[in-house]
Amino acid sequence: MKTNWTAQNIPSQQGRRVLITGANSGIGFHTALELARRGAEIILPARTTEKAESAAAAIRQEVPNAKLLPEVLDLAELSSVAAFAERILQRYPQPSLDLLINNAGVMAIPHRQLTPDGYERQFATNYLGPFALTALLFRAVKPQAGSRIVIVSSTASKMGKIDFENLQSERRYSPMWGAYAQSKLADSIFAIELQRRLTALHSPVIVTAAHPGYAITNLQTSGPGDAGFLNPLRIATKVLKPFLSQDAHHGALPTLFAATDPSAEPGGYYGPDGFQELKGLPAKARIAAAALDPATASKLWHITEQLTGVQFPLA
Ligand SMILES: NC(=O)c1ccc[n+]([C@@H]2O[C@H](COP(=O)([O-])OP(=O)(O)OC[C@H]3O[C@@H](n4cnc5c(N)ncnc54)[C@H](OP(=O)(O)O)[C@@H]3O)[C@@H](O)[C@H]2O)c1
Repeated sequence: MKTNWTAQNIPSQQGRRVLITGANSGIGFHTALELARRGAEIILPARTTEKAESAAAAIRQEVPNAKLLPEVLDLAELSSVAAFAERILQRYPQPSLDLLINNAGVMAIPHRQLTPDGYERQFATNYLGPFALTALLFRAVKPQAGSRIVIVSSTASKMGKIDFENLQSERRYSPMWGAYAQSKLADSIFAIELQRRLTALHSPVIVTAAHPGYAITNLQTSGPGDAGFLNPLRIATKVLKPFLSQDAHHGALPTLFAATDPSAEPGGYYGPDGFQELKGLPAKARIAAAALDPATASKLWHITEQLTGVQFPLA
């Protein structure tokens, strides 16, 4: 499926309210910018007020009338997720979200780190926090056609394994192909399992997923930033960057397609259409085979509810 789909194809977002995590940087910023250009109102939580406000100011430079709500959210801390969700629910007591885009993430932290809740930082930030956020805000999502939950995964998910004996990397820690890949596989599993459950309930809300290919953002340095000069990821980034990567704007297009295109399918997964899905325009992406197993998905869902202390409110 070649689409030649660009930001020009985004339908009007007038009157739609969108929540995007990680919108102060990289792909999330460009996702927010393009949706703001099309008239969406955007809730834009970042780890600090300063970061959220400076992202809002940068969007307003391009879209002076943008409707933006800077907010604070640390996905690696479940109390922050709960407090943020509570503020949103108080501010908008009626279901009023058209789009919830789980974009924020961190990659390849060189040494195992634990969050304040005692969970491995990549698993917590990339998966547990977004699961809890989506569950806590599910009743804020309008129960109508056009409402979508979007989950940003990665091609790294194909290298991932859900290791139930080592979910928090307590036995072994491998920054990229262990912990990061597992967290992104968990994202893909979450997307498919949530869609499965929504379909069973005949919900009009759909779930889509996307990955940006290889996009040059802060991701390559923010996690491994303190890994030293000879870090292999850093070297790979430098060597491969000119040939195989794309900019953050292009990296945002699969998310934008998944979030807005009328042809995006329930449970669909989208990424760049070029070599190895590294760069290009949005197209259907190849999903990790391990993301399709309902038994793994169901077990992971149950454990995630226990770890986060949040029940997903699906009757
Ligand atoms: N770039 C790629 O090639 C690539 C490839 C595959 C998948 N992805 C995925 O794309 C998504 C966006 O990444 P990006 O490339 O745009 O990287 P980025 O520029 O580093 O942006 C990541 C965003 O996530 C936020 N974030 C990190 N930890 C957080 C936390 N604990 N709580 C709340 N927000 C947090 C960051 O906030 P701060 O600014 O405060 O750090 C930042 O806004 C991620 O899910 C990543 O896994 C990217």
